[in-house]
Amino acid sequence: MSTPFIMDHPLIQHKISLLRDKHTGSKEFRELISEIAMFVCYEATRNLPLKEVEIETPICMAKTNVVSGKKLAFVPILRAGLGMVDGVLKMVPAAKIGHIGMYRDPESKEPVEYYCKLPSDIAKRDVFVLDPMLATGGSAIDAIHKIKEYGVKNIKFMCIIAAPEGMAALQKAHPDVEIYCAALDECLNEHAYIVPGLGDAGDRIFGTK
Ligand code: PRP
Ligand code: URA
Repeated sequence: MSTPFIMDHPLIQHKISLLRDKHTGSKEFRELISEIAMFVCYEATRNLPLKEVEIETPICMAKTNVVSGKKLAFVPILRAGLGMVDGVLKMVPAAKIGHIGMYRDPESKEPVEYYCKLPSDIAKRDVFVLDPMLATGGSAIDAIHKIKEYGVKNIKFMCIIAAPEGMAALQKAHPDVEIYCAALDECLNEHAYIVPGLGDAGDRIFGTK
């Protein structure tokens, strides 16, 4: 089990403060989620393998590096994970995108899957699962179980805000999955919302409340 990567960059902390503010409207909220996702992706892809190639610059021949290894896929957990897709595609434009639909039952807080469509060659790809919020961890755990059923071996999880409870649950259920997050919060409240958190990410991205 690896130590989760938690970002501490001042600009990320600043952007997360704007996200948390209940007066931040949907347009700015969406832009911030997308920007922060881009930077989380930057860290989550830090260990991608490289291979040396030779190219001709306007000055001379040069040996230089390009990304090699398996192709990548991003899998947002609907709905809120969709908000991260633009940002990660800015970093890896050629990646394929799968979708897993999950909602939390308001009573039990258990995730309910309602949709799954993954690239046909997903088993040959390294997969990054996207969801801004890791609360109890139930949605991420089930989504990752589902992706593993398709034969995927290398999965990383990217989020914006995590609760310690969700982090621990995800590490226990999937010790092989590295977690990258922009902020680790204090706890969950009695409704299983992250404290201080940012409220309901899906509703704030899509303006549904
Ligand atoms: C939110 C969030 C995660 C989940 C996190 O989705 O985007 O998917 O809750 O909670 P958990 O860690 O306790 O499972 P929600 O169920 O609100 O659906 P939505 O994205 O469609 O709004
Ligand atoms: N889902 C959210 O959108 N926010 C939380 O705080 C917890 C789950």
